[in-house]
Order: sequence, then C-alpha cells, then structure tokens
Amino acid sequence: MCGIVGYVGQQQTLAVLVGGLKRQEYRGYDSAGVAIITDGGKLETAKKAGKLQALLDNLAEYPLIDGHTGIGHTRWATHGGPTDLNAHPHLADGGQLALIHNGIIENFASIKLELLAKGHEFASETDTAVAAVLVGEIYREVGDLQEAMRLAASRLEGAFTLLAIHTNEPGVIVAARHNSPLVIGLGDGENFLGSDVAAFVEHTHRAAAVGQDQIVKITPNAVVVTDFDGNPAVLEEYEIAWDASASEKGGWSSFMAKEITENPDAVANTVRGRVVDGLVNVPELSELGDDVLRGINRIILIACGTASYAGMVGSYAIEAWARIPVEVQLSHEFRYRDPVITPETLVVSISQSGETMDTLMAVKFAREAGARTLSICNTQGSTIPRESDAVVYTHAGPEVAVASTKAFVAQITALYLVGLHLGRVRSTLADAELRRLARELQELPAKVTEVLKTGPAVAQLAKWMSDSQAVLFLGRNVGYPIALEGALKLKELAYIHAEGFAAGELKHGPIALIDHGQPVFVVVPSPRGSALIHSKVVSNIQEIRARGARVIVIAELGDASVLPYADEVITIPLADPMFEPILAVIPLQIFAMELADAKGLDVDQPRNLAKSVTVE
Ligand code: F6R
Repeated sequence: MCGIVGYVGQQQTLAVLVGGLKRQEYRGYDSAGVAIITDGGKLETAKKAGKLQALLDNLAEYPLIDGHTGIGHTRWATHGGPTDLNAHPHLADGGQLALIHNGIIENFASIKLELLAKGHEFASETDTAVAAVLVGEIYREVGDLQEAMRLAASRLEGAFTLLAIHTNEPGVIVAARHNSPLVIGLGDGENFLGSDVAAFVEHTHRAAAVGQDQIVKITPNAVVVTDFDGNPAVLEEYEIAWDASASEKGGWSSFMAKEITENPDAVANTVRGRVVDGLVNVPELSELGDDVLRGINRIILIACGTASYAGMVGSYAIEAWARIPVEVQLSHEFRYRDPVITPETLVVSISQSGETMDTLMAVKFAREAGARTLSICNTQGSTIPRESDAVVYTHAGPEVAVASTKAFVAQITALYLVGLHLGRVRSTLADAELRRLARELQELPAKVTEVLKTGPAVAQLAKWMSDSQAVLFLGRNVGYPIALEGALKLKELAYIHAEGFAAGELKHGPIALIDHGQPVFVVVPSPRGSALIHSKVVSNIQEIRARGARVIVIAELGDASVLPYADEVITIPLADPMFEPILAVIPLQIFAMELADAKGLDVDQPRNLAKSVTVE
C-alpha cells in the first residue's frame, strides 16, 4: 500500500526513482510522483493521478532537470481521492521541502487546526500534506532535517513511513518509520530507501531493515539510524536472496501468468532443505524448543484473504497430523474478540508480504497476551517475522501480481511442513507415515507441473464463460478453502460475483441460487481418502445438476464416478488427499486469470486493490 523510493548517489536520480516505482507499482497505482533536488539546488517535482505510466507520459512532455537526490511515490489512496493534487510528494517550507508518505496519520486533523492557526495553508486534503507542513515548520526552528523529522514523527499517531528532502540539504534524505515498512539499500557511494527491497534490488543486494519507531538519514556515503528519542540504533544488514530478474515479467503476458507457472518452484523451494533423512525437520521450528512444541495445546492461525484460506488448509493438516486443536481466525477479527490465550497457545501468522497491518497488529497483540508466535512469511526482512518468536520463510520468490498465486501454494506447503514437524516431535504420527508424507511432499512439484498442462483447456472454458454473471464454487474438507480461494480469485481479477461454499452447506440455503445454466465448480475429494466424503460430494453434484447447474468438476485422474454428472472435467494427478488443495487450486488460478484476460482486464493490477495492505 503505497510504494516509496529514495536515492542519493552519483547516478541520474530520475531513472533510479522510476525503476524503483515500476518494481513497486503493485503496492498502489492510484497516482505517482517524484521530487528531485537539482545540482543547482532547486526542487523539481512531478506528480500525476493514474498509473505510473501517466506520470511517465507527463515527464516525457515536461522533462525535469535531473539531480543526485530524490524521492518517489506510488499511491493507494486513503485520505483524499486519487487526484493530481492529492498525489505525493507534498511540498512545504516555501516549496523547498518535499515529503512522501505511506500509511495513515490518525491525528492529522488536530495538527492541521494548529498549523492553520499559525497561518499555514494546505494545497490538498490529505494527511500527508499536514505531515509535510509540520516537518517544514519544525525545520524552520531547528534548521536540521533529521532533527525536524524526529520531532515531527514523535507527534504523529497512526501508521507512517515518511521520506523528506530539503533544498538546503542536498545529498540527504531523512525518513521516519512507525507501523509501516521501510528498508535501506546499501550501495557503494550511493544509498537507497524503499518500502521493500524491490525498490533497489537492481542496484544492490545489501539491505538493512529499519526498526519500529526509527529515524534514518542517508547520504551517498553514510547511513545514520536513531530511535524517536535520538538514541543511536544498530543496523541489521542482510543479503537479498533473489535476483532483480526474479521480479521482472520476462516474456510473459503478465506477472500473474509467470507466477502461476512458478508454482512448482514455489513448492520445491519451500520444501528444500527441510526434509532430512526422509523426515520433515524445520530448523526454524526447533528454535522454539521441542519441549515448547510438545507443550502446545492450541494453535491459532491468523491471516487475511488468500493467506487465511492457506491457513484453513493447514488447519486440517496440522490437526490431523499433530493432534492439536487448530483454528483459523482473520487477523482483524482475532484481535478484537478478546481471545483466550495462554503460554501454551501457538499463534501462527501467515503473510506473503510480512507487512499486512491487520496481521502485524494481531501478532503484536498475541505476543503481549503471552502466546508463542510463529510467522510464515515470503518476504525477508519484513516486519511480521521481526515481531515473531520464530519464522518459517516460504521461498516462493517475489510475487508481483497483486492477486496471490504461487505464494498461496508456498504458504500451504509451509503449513504442511509445520504439521509434519509437529507430528514428528510430538510422536503423533508413526515413522513410516512421516516418511511417506515427506516423500509425497517432495513429489508435489512434479505433480503441480502436470496440472499446469490443463492451462489451454481451462483458458478455453474461461473464454466461453466470459459473460457469466455469477459463478459458484463448492468443496468439502480441504477442498472447501480451495472453493473459497477460487471464488476470491474470480472476484478480484474478473469482477464477477463469485461465492465459495462448503458443499454440505448447500442445502442450508445457497442451493436457492442454483438455476438453469448456473456455472458451479466442484472440487471433488479423492475417493482414496474418505470414501464417505467423496460419495457425499458426488451426491451434492447430483443435487445441483438436477436443478440445472452447469457443473465443472476438478477431480483426480481416474475418478469415473463424477463423469456422468459433469459438464466439464478438469483432472489432477493422484496425491495424498491432504495434499490435493495444492493441485486443485492451479486450474482455478488459471481460470480467473484467463477470464479476466478475456474481458480485457488488467490481471496484474485489479481495480481498487494493492498488494501489501499496510493500513487497518
Ligand atoms: C488475494 C490476496 C490477498 C492477500 C491478503 C494478505 O489474492 O493476495 O487476499 O492474501 O491481503 O496478504 P499477505 O499475505 O501479504 O499478508
């Protein structure tokens, strides 16, 4: 939610800023802007409503004078609509200071009144404009940008990452971080700031995370970090594990198309190194201590959106394998329901970005309430892992398309690993079963590759269905979260009304929706798992077919029992029934993408969304 980039160094700044914004556009695409201090000591700015391309077109028509210090922003609107005026940067101190912001400043109204009383005027309605004027006002008094930022940040409430430059201090960018992400890129004679490492990974692989409530000052040759009281802080440097090309589209029509094909690697890379001598062993979990893991009597999985559906799949697996009661709660609900938490409660957060504010706040809440916290995360150096007792990284690589695909299967994979690790440590699974499941887990990437071959047939189906008004998805057991995920993907990408249901729930109301020609996807569980569950789903298919539904089933290869009742069959390879979600979701990801494409929609940047939701 809002992408931020800052650069000081010898390169021409505009190109560095634009590169950083391009790579972070998935964070928000309502408007974009840049501010640069020219070598002549002037502030040059440009900002435009719309996608980054609108700003680039504007810059082509009205070029800026370049320099060696600059900041750039891509916005997901919160306060104030997505207009040119509300786009960042915002100027203050007589046009000498430029400031950009990610987050929401909750006490902006009272500060604005105070500044208005002092005679300041505001060009826009945003909370950011207030922060800019406040930093400018304090700068007038103290004459030092870092100090002005520190004093201003101490007065602000809510969530913010702020970056500011001032013409009096060329070669300097100062930043403040409170509840919003910020990372530093460490270069040779140049330094960078970004909302995430994508902002600068094409220039350097050395990064350092900025802690909560810290102030940063970068110059080409130095990085200084303090807390909000001005005490020096220690920088924790780390190496960015992925290459810049990993976050490029390559020859693909969209990032989403590329990322769907990367599903097999996402599973393989997440499992890699975590099966030792035929048994699942996740070293990061051992950090919590085997005694602690044996003593856990309840697991709460917290997440939002797609990640929560990964959690639902994980809840079936962990409960079955480790015999611990597991529940899934949406992060934003968990925190406000006064949950019962004891030191024997393990709260597992699941987040691709590691920055989702709802989940971050829920993790902090769980820790304060005395729970052990484990993070399942795809983004190195992000905030949620830093706030957790332990982290199991999913190694899906950078996910750029706003709708999650490969990160989802990697999250499910990580939850399988957690379940099997716990099953081993707690001796709830026999050795032979642990080995069989570990082997099957390692065989999954090849099976995912096999499912990808359904792509052309699914694309054809999507084309035929591109004028559908509503699509329903049914599943039972581990197929239920996949039905929910199939519906969410279709909603967010193709803007079609879609609902996922537990198949058993159908007769309790939703069956009224079934009319002649209503398309319904059904995720059919393997008959090799529970024959009972399988037969119940086959009955559900018959019930909707009898009422005129057009049934598209996703079933395992060789499951002949569904054929007489299906209009379309998409087959997936045989796997342990617990692992089927990873296979069944692939055609649904492809379906949503292809249908959106058939409607001429932007599959990578659906309307109103942003990848990393850093506001509550
Ligand atoms: C949907 C999607 C979202 C995210 C959710 C949580 O395709 O991507 O529902 O899953 O916003 O995001 P993370 O995993 O970054 O916490």
